[in-house]
Amino acid sequence: MGRDVIVALDFSSAEQVYSFLDKFTGRKPFVKIGMELFYAEGPAIVKEIKARGHKIFLDLKLHDIPNTVKKAMSVLSGLDVDITNLHAGGTVRMMEAAIEGLTREDGTRPLLIAVTQLTSTDQKAMENDLLIKEPIADVVMHYASNAKKAGLDGVVCSPLEAEKVHGCCGKEFLTVTPGVRFADGDIGDQKRVMTPEQAKLIGSDYIVVGRPITAAEDPVAAYERCVREFVD
Ligand code: C5P
Repeated sequence: MGRDVIVALDFSSAEQVYSFLDKFTGRKPFVKIGMELFYAEGPAIVKEIKARGHKIFLDLKLHDIPNTVKKAMSVLSGLDVDITNLHAGGTVRMMEAAIEGLTREDGTRPLLIAVTQLTSTDQKAMENDLLIKEPIADVVMHYASNAKKAGLDGVVCSPLEAEKVHGCCGKEFLTVTPGVRFADGDIGDQKRVMTPEQAKLIGSDYIVVGRPITAAEDPVAAYERCVREFVD
């Protein structure tokens, strides 16, 4: 899988999702299913979207004891998604257990990426709430290295961190970056954003784009603009 645009399906019902996806005649965008949609509709929505021919990033951010994560990942690997994820804060041992659970009998598995520090966590919250005193950029790189050590394929990170992650973990280590906005678009609640073109220049492997596409007057045109700027 090469560089691609992943559309965040941040909807709360299957009905909304299908009416959105039905606009894409001929195109099959790579999509992200998050907690809201998965908890509302269950595994059936993953199977249905897969059957329609879309690649899927299942964004459930697992974080629990290694044995529980291993078993949960084993269930997720049966859903045949293309990418799934967990929290690097669960430790190297938890990430290794996740890989074991995700790997099928024939040796294949979906790509597994780690969330480092959520972009909603800032230095102050990390120090006060988590008692982590190091600079947040160092913590992100440390978690990314842990993910690599555990055998994961990459991380979810801010586009501003993608270059540094590649520097520390290698060019092959995937960077999946949300926080993308068109140069002439609304920023919304995202704080640090990049355009698809900038994300391409700094070497993001995948951009995750929600509202600039889902809330656009013409979502297909917005998606195609993203692809033009980021992939072509
Ligand atoms: O609508 P918007 O483009 O901001 O959506 C971005 C998507 O990426 C959402 O599904 C959001 O939950 C997700 N995300 C994010 N920032 C992170 C991790 C995930 O915006 N650090």
